[in-house]
Amino acid sequence: MVTIKSKKEIGYMREACKVVDAVYKKIEKEIKAGMSTWDIDQIAEKEMVRLGAIPAEKGYRIGIPGVPDYPAATCISVNDEVIHGIPSKDRIIKEGDIVSVDTVALKNGFNGDAARTFMIGKVSNEAKRLVEVTKQAFFEGIKYAKKGNRIGDVSHAIGEYVYSKGYSVVKEFQGHGIGKEMHEDPGIPNYGRAGRGLRLEPGMTLAIEPMVIEGREDIIELDDGWTIITQDGSLAAHYENTILITEKEPEILTLL
Ligand code: MF3
Ligand code: CO
Repeated sequence: MVTIKSKKEIGYMREACKVVDAVYKKIEKEIKAGMSTWDIDQIAEKEMVRLGAIPAEKGYRIGIPGVPDYPAATCISVNDEVIHGIPSKDRIIKEGDIVSVDTVALKNGFNGDAARTFMIGKVSNEAKRLVEVTKQAFFEGIKYAKKGNRIGDVSHAIGEYVYSKGYSVVKEFQGHGIGKEMHEDPGIPNYGRAGRGLRLEPGMTLAIEPMVIEGREDIIELDDGWTIITQDGSLAAHYENTILITEKEPEILTLL
């Protein structure tokens, strides 16, 4: 179901999203080589709880029989891991890694969702370019996230930008509406045809999240039921914000 948020609900969305922004500011300051992905998860969870929010990914049920509930506050995906990497004390990040963190805060019954890809120390020029293009793909997409435009306009802009840089977008996962539920309609693919799909209206809150692969688009799901990696072993990056559709320009709620 597509939900249009009232003024009051937008206020709650803002609060949840502000927590996510604060979590990333904290991680940005503290992340460094030698930490485990579990250490990073703990920073995120503590900050979220300190700010009065609930880590919404913890215990998240995907609804596929046999897939365990998600066990952590964040998804942390390193290098060729694309999304949904499970934080682990055994996974130590090192100089040169790119580390995608994706987390959702639930506050006053509303969700804020964002992802960042952090570069650890000095990374290769190739990795840096991938991370920058992934972030820019989000900004290319939201140029079209305006009243009267369609979801396909956003999707198309993201995909075309990424392809123009010689990279692939992940097709099996997409952005989404967000509100009381972490995942609401509409789905927002990172590729597609302009002029198609739902028309955007003020009061919609959307999580736009380019997932970009350096090499081929194919992905593999690991046996843990969650972690998605690139099939060709090439690097992947992820960048996401929750935005609000307004009468004019979109507002990015998770980037303050
Ligand atoms: N935050 C992710 C998204 O961007 C969803 C993560 S799945 C979960 O949509 F199980 F970790 F919650
Ligand atoms: Co999301």
